[in-house]
Order: sequence, then structure tokens, then C-alpha cells
Amino acid sequence: MHNIYEATGIMKNTKLCKVEDLKEEKALVIKGDNKYLPGIIIYKGTTSIHIWYNNCPHANLTLDLIEGKVQSKNNDLLCANHGAKFNPETGECMKGPCKNSFLTIFPFKIINNYLIAGN
Ligand code: FES
Repeated sequence: MHNIYEATGIMKNTKLCKVEDLKEEKALVIKGDNKYLPGIIIYKGTTSIHIWYNNCPHANLTLDLIEGKVQSKNNDLLCANHGAKFNPETGECMKGPCKNSFLTIFPFKIINNYLIAGN
């Protein structure tokens, strides 16, 4: 990976969404202008927000088989390809073919209630 912005297709300082657009314990997939790049997964937990590179460490595929749909169930993020389950707050694979590996963090900050790419 050259850098996280080129890898995801989401450039630094991109406005991603508003904090209030996020639903608790749900995953939101956002892509950049180049739809062939995997984009990011935004997850809002009960107390914090996390953003991950939309790339499963098992086979370097996006977690969403159906574009934009990453399931979050029982506080897990699921990879639709072979069923890996990730802890959405730590990125760790808890179950599945890449157990104990991690999703890659995508840096962001919150300014005026907007999530902005880059720290
Ligand atoms: S690519 Fe995600 S579990 Fe295989």
C-alpha cells in the first residue's frame, strides 16, 4: 500500500459525512471518485466512531460483496466473502480465516460535526 488515501481512493481532507448521519452499531461504506478503489467503512459504536480501510486481510478483497453493504451484527463487522468477523472497535478478526489479523485504520477527525479524512 503506497498510502492509505491512494489505497482507499479517499483523499485527505475529504468531507465524509455528518456525525448525525451515522446510525449506532451500523456500518457505512464510502467510496471516493474512483469507484474501483475499495473505499472505507465507517462504524459508529455506542461511545466512539471508527473508520477502516475496506479491505479484508484474508484475501485482500472488500468486505462488501454487494457494493456498499457491510453487515454489522451483534457488534461484529462481517466480511461477506468468507465470513470473517471483526471487532468494529479494534479491527481485530475474532473468527474466520484471518483470525487475529486486523483491519487497517483510516485516519479522520471531526470538525463542526463532520467527519473529515486525515488527522
Ligand atoms: S476475504 Fe474476507 S474472509 Fe476471505
